[in-house]
Amino acid sequence: MRSGSKNLVILGMQWGDEGKGKIIDLLSRNFSYVVRFQGGNNAGHTIVVNGETLALHQVPSGTLHPKCFLVVANGVVLNLEVFNQEIDRLKQRGVDVLSRLMLSEKAHVILPHHILLDQWREGGAGRIGTTGRGIGPAYEMKSSRMGVRLGDFLHPETLHTRMELGYREVAARLGSQSALPSLEEIIERTQSWVAPLKRCIGNTQTLLYDAWEQKSPILFEGAQASLLDIDHGTYPYVTSSNCSVGGLLAGTGLSHHAIDMVCGVTKAYATRVGDGPFPSEIDGSLGETIRTRGKEFGTTTGRPRRCGWFDIPVVRHGVQINGAGGLAIMKLDVLDGLEEIKIILGYSDGSGGFTRHLPGHESDWKEVSPIEKTFRGWGKTAACKQWSDLPKEAQTYLKFIEDNMGCPIAYVSTGADRREGFFMSDILSSFMEPS
Ligand code: IMP
Repeated sequence: MRSGSKNLVILGMQWGDEGKGKIIDLLSRNFSYVVRFQGGNNAGHTIVVNGETLALHQVPSGTLHPKCFLVVANGVVLNLEVFNQEIDRLKQRGVDVLSRLMLSEKAHVILPHHILLDQWREGGAGRIGTTGRGIGPAYEMKSSRMGVRLGDFLHPETLHTRMELGYREVAARLGSQSALPSLEEIIERTQSWVAPLKRCIGNTQTLLYDAWEQKSPILFEGAQASLLDIDHGTYPYVTSSNCSVGGLLAGTGLSHHAIDMVCGVTKAYATRVGDGPFPSEIDGSLGETIRTRGKEFGTTTGRPRRCGWFDIPVVRHGVQINGAGGLAIMKLDVLDGLEEIKIILGYSDGSGGFTRHLPGHESDWKEVSPIEKTFRGWGKTAACKQWSDLPKEAQTYLKFIEDNMGCPIAYVSTGADRREGFFMSDILSSFMEPS
């Protein structure tokens, strides 16, 4: 084995939507491979280029850089209909994806009945506010060994049997009243979605291992975030994959040797979509102001995002479980012009105690209340391109965050466009070639 290639992992430190797409897009021209390794089309990465917005759900965010080879590894669950639509939309903008794409033969497929089951469950008592994209059922079928993988479409002799297993289970749960299409219809539809992608299906594990051995730089693109991680998030209000660094190893088949650096991405405040604990949530008109300024509406579902203050225990948890070596702080400019800005230092536990650790149980989350520190607001950070351009109050705010993270700030974003923001140290710039 050879080491030495410079591989970077980009992961969300909060509840998703931190702005990972911008960082990935910014850095990906320096990488030969950009890899998705978990999640599905519950993710929505927005990238803005020359004022034009592009929303991606499953195609890796490096897509705009023609030299990047795009990999969808085994840990992803794929909605093939949506994937084809995304590729068509990119093609209309002159971006060719199919000639530089590999999809893992081991990646599981999200099937129409998974989506129906997800949506049916969300109508009942177990509702958690999912994206309704069938993510949970697809991963559930994978774990119970009733899933259908992309490679199954290369083996038509076994496809019907594999499809039937999971279909029967779902049909039994949904009952005959549901709008469930017949198994034959689902097979036919899914085969038509696979057809244009067939030549891209392959062994992504060996592709990536070879790339690593040849020291080709690889960028790993996390979807969702630490607090939505199935093990380390706010269970049960989580997604169904490991969105933390552990998910990368299982989701690609690479070892920890392939990781040179983890960059954690966080907003300068916090947001969450869907139900579940969110101690720093800001109610009323201030929350509304931040939502409007930050355009805090889901890329995937359009749902309004709940907005809150920057929460130190939340982001520290992300830093710890992922071994983040640098932080990218996004959307600082959204806080411009506020009189006061708060940061959550920790929580009081109801009996006078103070903790900087996250509660482990759903009920414990209900017991804690946030302890805040108030900072003076600042005028304008929008489009600032270096540290010294920032107002003193914004510098104080960021410095406080850094001092409490055990991890330096590597990048500050001051606007949606690629050009708005700056690197703080050589933590990330060592992964960049001069432009
Ligand atoms: P699911 O992933 O659709 O099963 O949804 C589970 C939870 O994760 C819900 O609270 C969703 O709102 C949340 N979620 C899933 N994907 C994302 C994302 O990309 N950004 C933010 N929240 C997400």
